[in-house]
Amino acid sequence: MTRNWIARSAATTLLALIANGAWAADGAAIPERVEALLRQMTLAEKVGQLNQLSDKQFITGPESELRRNLESDIRAGKVGSMLNVKGAADTRAVQAIAMQSRLKIPLLFGLDVIHGYDTIFPVPLGEAASWDLEAIEQSARIAAREASAAGIHWTFAPMVDIARDPRWGRVMEGAGEDAYLGSRIAAARVRGFQGVKLGGTGSVMATAKHFAAYGAAIAGRDYNAVDMSEQLLYETYLPPFKAAVDAGAATFMNSFNTLNGVPATGSALLQRDILKGAWGFKGFVVSDWNSIGEMVPHGYASDLSDAAAKAIIAGSDMDMESNAYAGSLAQLVGAGKVDVKLVDDAVRRVLTKKFELGLFDDPYRFSDPKREKEAVSDPAHRAAARATAAKSMVLLKNDGGALPIKRGVKSIAVIGPLADARRDLEGGWIVKSNAARVVNLVDAIRAQAGAGTRVSFAAGCDVACASDSGFAAALAAAREADVVVLAVGESWEMSGEAKSRADIGLPGRQEQLFAALKAAGKTPVVVVLAGRPLIFENVARDAKAILYAWLPGSEGGNAIADVLFGAVNPSARLPMTFPRHQGQIPISYQQYSTGRPVTDERDIQYKSAYIDMSNSPRYAFGHGLSYTTFAYRDLKLSRNAMKADGKITLSFTLANTGPVAGAEVAQLYLRDPVASSVRPLKELKGFQKIALAPGQQQQVSFTIDRDSLAFFNRKLQWVAEPGQFELMVGAASDDIRLRANIELTE
Ligand code: BGC
Repeated sequence: MTRNWIARSAATTLLALIANGAWAADGAAIPERVEALLRQMTLAEKVGQLNQLSDKQFITGPESELRRNLESDIRAGKVGSMLNVKGAADTRAVQAIAMQSRLKIPLLFGLDVIHGYDTIFPVPLGEAASWDLEAIEQSARIAAREASAAGIHWTFAPMVDIARDPRWGRVMEGAGEDAYLGSRIAAARVRGFQGVKLGGTGSVMATAKHFAAYGAAIAGRDYNAVDMSEQLLYETYLPPFKAAVDAGAATFMNSFNTLNGVPATGSALLQRDILKGAWGFKGFVVSDWNSIGEMVPHGYASDLSDAAAKAIIAGSDMDMESNAYAGSLAQLVGAGKVDVKLVDDAVRRVLTKKFELGLFDDPYRFSDPKREKEAVSDPAHRAAARATAAKSMVLLKNDGGALPIKRGVKSIAVIGPLADARRDLEGGWIVKSNAARVVNLVDAIRAQAGAGTRVSFAAGCDVACASDSGFAAALAAAREADVVVLAVGESWEMSGEAKSRADIGLPGRQEQLFAALKAAGKTPVVVVLAGRPLIFENVARDAKAILYAWLPGSEGGNAIADVLFGAVNPSARLPMTFPRHQGQIPISYQQYSTGRPVTDERDIQYKSAYIDMSNSPRYAFGHGLSYTTFAYRDLKLSRNAMKADGKITLSFTLANTGPVAGAEVAQLYLRDPVASSVRPLKELKGFQKIALAPGQQQQVSFTIDRDSLAFFNRKLQWVAEPGQFELMVGAASDDIRLRANIELTE
């Protein structure tokens, strides 16, 4: 679209800039400027502000069948925001068209900047595995710096949906299964994208999405219905959204799913009562792509006009790509079916953000080709992407110190369908691929192994691995080598939106390739690349070492090699449980107590168990190894009992007892053993990532207050009930090292 946009609008840009909009800066406070503008707007212009359309060149959902003429609609003030316009030149050109409209209200440009704009960071689930809030915030900051220079005002991120079903492809975009970890990461990402205050040219507005409970789609099938108790909703699925509001998230996106029978887009409970009511959210809610229109096939609205009425009444402010508001809202107001006050409220929310961004002072202030060029070529961004990728890789297994690979080995064979991948390392949901600059794993290993090491490569098969015809060549290469590295997993297209899988095993015959190498006496070190937890039981049993590298981004190959050779000591921990078998899904460490718990796996008669499978996962939430070891000792409590307004400090000594420097993620879990609602066996309540030199030790402390002990009771009140609580400190949810009990007194 670039050429079209630019050719047609260049002549008018200057004119538009000179012309004085109704919104010219007058020094008044933003609410007054919003009201002044609102008073001048016709109903049609108000509806225009609530209409968001996609550029036609980059489509991120099913294309609308409605014919439209973008340019004349923008010029007529019928469009308030566009998504998927990319680059400083295009955003300037399109903004210039908006400047020809009667009131010259600037457009908002939104885009899915999910894990980087030009410099690609690990997919969000991978980044979450770092448990490193600073690194996560920094990655969002860098994405914001690059995207905002290209004229983007608004990213549709972070996705803060809790997900406990790895079949759902969109687990890749979130922070995993846990409400506490997810909330901390949600806040870090919002801070990173938005900076201290909206309006800085290095910042973009964040979107907390998808409101709400989208991650609990039945059977992990994308867009499917969600049916859940209010307690689970409040305790597990809503907290990351609340954290995003508290961190100042400018916008929310609603979701495709129904929640207990009501489409989220039409849910007044979610959008009006909880978000704008109880939480006092002052920003605006954008629908998901055509999610207003989809209330018709849901069977919740009779036609597009009915859907528009239901959505605006429920509190959806902006319509992404349904053309429902544009087509019907004015008539609905005219017919008395929608109160114009609802339209005014939505428009006010949108205009306020446009003022806060400074767009009324200079509609082009973000679109800056020079800044764009500087930002995307900043070498510090590549360095940060590499460091963050290395921090996100989870060492799942490392028997006998198979890793790190000793420098100076004579030969390394790099095998597997992802060994020479470039595009796959970038992952899905990126604005544009630049695979040519990605260093693949073979080349990264070659670069780091040193001149004395011979590095060979044989793929064995492609990712689909339908045939074993390439296995012989792979075996031949492996037989010649001292160390074999096998890179297996998913391609970038196998996770993300609309990428649910019923079978989350390694694709095709990839596990057979591993088995063939093992049978030849060449058991490899395995690197798994994927956007979700996968199941790979044979590899888990027989491999000596497994590094879970996710889809690690532009610098992924280098970062994997950094970890394989020990330049970086792995420090990531799983943000999602890895099942042994599909039959265990949905799965989370946060199980509820039952009346028939399994206390001994050998005795499962009449117990809450499977007769053909353990209850335990393959790898637990919080699991991840290091090249060093850590000891936890000397737990102390500042006191044993507290009142509701009190605090207890738990402290202990953490020591690096191994040979190299490393970082540990110390995790605090809690259990409320007797309560008016049955509580989970463990809930994460705190974590700290601490770097220690060999032999170094440090005092670590966590504060326990009422919030740590509280839960939503059956009346949905946030209560902390007096009684005993168990505290557990450990290296993973299944690796508890220290325990203590405390009491909450009346
Ligand atoms: C996705 C959203 C995304 C939107 C715009 C939808 O299909 O669910 O997450 O922001 O498209 O691309």
